[in-house]
Amino acid sequence: MKPPPRLQSLIDEGLIDTVVRQLMSGKEAMVFVVRCTQNGISETRCAKIYKEATHRSFRQAVDYTENRKVKNSRTARAIGRGSKFGRQQQEAAWQSAEVDALYRLAGAGVRVPQPYNFHDGVLLMELVTDAHGDAAPRLNDVSFTPEQARTQHGTLVAEVVRMLCAGVVHGDLSEFNILLAHTHGADGAPGMDVPVIIDLPQAVDAAGNNHAQRMLLRDVANLRDFFGQFAPELLTTDYGPEIWSLYQSGLLSIETALTGRYVRTQADVDVGSLMREIDDARAEEAARRLRMQTSAPGLA
Ligand SMILES: Nc1ncnc2c1ncn2[C@@H]1O[C@H](COP(=O)(O)OP(=O)(O)OP(=O)(O)O)[C@@H](O)[C@H]1O
Ligand SMILES: [Mg+2]
Repeated sequence: MKPPPRLQSLIDEGLIDTVVRQLMSGKEAMVFVVRCTQNGISETRCAKIYKEATHRSFRQAVDYTENRKVKNSRTARAIGRGSKFGRQQQEAAWQSAEVDALYRLAGAGVRVPQPYNFHDGVLLMELVTDAHGDAAPRLNDVSFTPEQARTQHGTLVAEVVRMLCAGVVHGDLSEFNILLAHTHGADGAPGMDVPVIIDLPQAVDAAGNNHAQRMLLRDVANLRDFFGQFAPELLTTDYGPEIWSLYQSGLLSIETALTGRYVRTQADVDVGSLMREIDDARAEEAARRLRMQTSAPGLA
């Protein structure tokens, strides 16, 4: 096809050979299937072109940009003032947030498309594919047996935990932003359908964002509601609050066994801060004893 103008500079730079077809035009981006050559090998990839802010339907931008780390203070001040430079910088921060999150999550072992390049507002990444090598379907386009639904739900809850352990909350996780990829088994073993998480420009820092908890609970509830259509027993699970309370207490790791149950107490105890209080009290007591020892030997 005739390449869209926004991809021309990537073609000029030799990052893209040809544009095969348009995949989707979503709310925030247009996605194209492209061919690229790397180390003499031609590969199919995926190019995501971010729309300008004015063409996007803003997903509560305030939630997502709060506490997003901006590299220097001039940029931070400009964004604060809302100047033209500030808006441009904010736009760049929004776009590169997805690349940052992809690298961070891939590094943490979360299944996301491998990012290759980010150039001129275009993200070049791995094309997630089905058994025929075509663009993989979204969960929303697939139906599941109860058994498959339970398995996929379990896998995705574990992925959410992995993301949170890497300090990231997706913030827009749903059946529309998860693809079902086909992996080919080695040596003729049967392949498998595995979920791959996409669409991360709104991902937030779990520790530094006041909305992180609400977003995590919503992400996990979306998974429950979607897979609950196929396996209704999932509808009564409570993985979100369980995960968040373990995370807050500093007790969450990728090995933590989850139950899907969560008992709400009258006032939720923050075990982490309680432990810090106890440690502080201990240290204070030790210091007091030491003071007494040094001022009046034999009395402590
Ligand atoms: N790496 C990829 N491999 C295969 N397909 C992809 C990939 N990235 C995106 N897509 C396809 O393009 C669609 C839009 O991508 P994405 O969700 O990242 O953008 P978006 O503009 O935020 O879309 P939406 O507003 O619909 O959520 C996806 O639903 C998916 O079908
Ligand atoms: Mg999307």
